[in-house]
Order: sequence, then C-alpha cells, then structure tokens
Amino acid sequence: MSAVEQPGRAPGTPDEDGRIPRHVAIVMDGNGRWAERRRSPRFNGHRAGVNAVRETVQACAERGVEVLTLFAFSSENWRRPAEEVGLLMNLFVSALQQEMRRLHSNNIRLHVAGERAAFNHHLQEQIAEAEALTADNTGMQLVVAANYGGRWDIVQAARHLAQQVADGTLTPDDVDETRFAQAVCLSGLPEPDLFIRTGGETRISNFLLWQLAYTELYFTETLWPDFDRTALDAAFVAFSSRERRFGRTGDQVAHSKG
Ligand code: FPP
Repeated sequence: MSAVEQPGRAPGTPDEDGRIPRHVAIVMDGNGRWAERRRSPRFNGHRAGVNAVRETVQACAERGVEVLTLFAFSSENWRRPAEEVGLLMNLFVSALQQEMRRLHSNNIRLHVAGERAAFNHHLQEQIAEAEALTADNTGMQLVVAANYGGRWDIVQAARHLAQQVADGTLTPDDVDETRFAQAVCLSGLPEPDLFIRTGGETRISNFLLWQLAYTELYFTETLWPDFDRTALDAAFVAFSSRERRFGRTGDQVAHSKG
C-alpha cells in the first residue's frame, strides 16, 4: 500500500485529516521532450500523455480527490506549428470518444473550461456530448481546461460583472472578491489545494491565476507521460507535510487544530 492510502477507506471517500487534497490542478508538461528522448515524433509524446491522463484520473478518483483540473491546451498553445495543433485537436476528439464511457461508468462528471468557440465544430460537439453524458454523475469532477488562460478567465469575469453594472443589476460597490470568484471559471468548486506541474519548469504559465492564490505548488522533473500513481502519491506526501496558514501564524493554525 502506498504511503497516502488509508486502511479501510473506500475508494472515492474524501479523507478527514487533509492528507488528500480536495482539488488537484495539473499542468501536464513534457510530452514533447519525452518523445524527443525516444527519437520519436512529438505527437507520440502527446499520445502517451493520454495514458498518463487515464491513470491519473483513475488514481485521483480512488484516493478521494473531489475535483481534478487538467491543463490540456492553453490559449497560447495556438502558437505551436499548425500541424501539431491539428494533431492535438484530433487527439482530444478521439480521447473524448474513447474515454467518456469509462468516465461515466466510474461516476465521474466532466466539464470543459475555456473558450470552446475557437474549437472546430466536431470537437465542440464531442465536448457537449461528453458533458451531457456525465452531467448527473456524483463522483469526482474532472475539469479539462482547454483553450484556457488565467488572464482570459479574469478578463471574462470582469466583462461579465461590468455588463451587470451597465445593466443596472449591480453597483460598482457590489463587486467584491466573493462576486468575482463567482464569475471566474470553476466557480462553485473548492479552490485548488494542490497544483502540480510536471516536466521540470517552475512556472504557472497563465493557468488558474485567480484560483491558485492559496494553493500549494509542487513541481517535479517527471515528464508527463511518465507521471503515474507513484508520482501522484509522492506529490500527495509532499502536500500532507505543508502547513497551510492562509495568512495566519503557525501558532494560530496549531490552536485551531485543537
Ligand atoms: C505539454 O507538453 C502538453 C500539451 C500542450 C498537451 C497536453 C495534452 C495531453 C496530455 C493529451 C490529452 C489530454 C486530455 C485531457 C485528453 P509539451 O508539448 O509542451 O512538452 P515539452 O515541454 O516537452 O515540449
């Protein structure tokens, strides 16, 4: 048994003592390098990345994670060579087609966050179909951030609130952190507890800028296609040793734990 699994804990049961993060957000980096090291086309790295997605989704659900958010395609990824972008789009369509039934049978609810209007019609339809199929599921929520950017998210929230002010349904003074949090993507979900970035870079790269304010950050050299249950458990062990103070002192935190 791994260090973070708890005896007697049924798969999918949230843990009581905070060792398992409620919400995990992952930047899946290193697919290209994984392939290049094998003298293989970059696309094979993305294909291998889908296997790591499958294993991570399954492992998170078994460990009782409530929300898993994966950064699949950033607003900036359109700058890649057209051929790689096209191959990635096809990979998303086929991964959704192949995996949505498995997600559904595991009671996982899928939601895609990001500006999906930029995707081709086929991909948009596939996303809508997978979301509809899994909409009533009550297990882990899987959020796939696709054509997502943290700055875009903040701007779309600001625009939405500005429109409400223009319509007279809000005053500028009504715009506070609570209302802003309701307007960004992922509203209604617990904020990420743990951010993981694979592939050795130590950047957030315009991922969930608003939502990561108090998130524990964890970086690993492991390339995404090599990320497996053992690597996930290592991240959870690191997370369980962090003291989350949310602006308070260490003494205050110790006393609040009783
Ligand atoms: C970053 O690696 C990875 C991506 C831009 C794509 C991620 C996509 C997947 C893992 C496939 C499917 C995902 C889902 C949710 C079905 P990189 O190409 O930047 O790697 P590099 O830094 O080594 O070049």
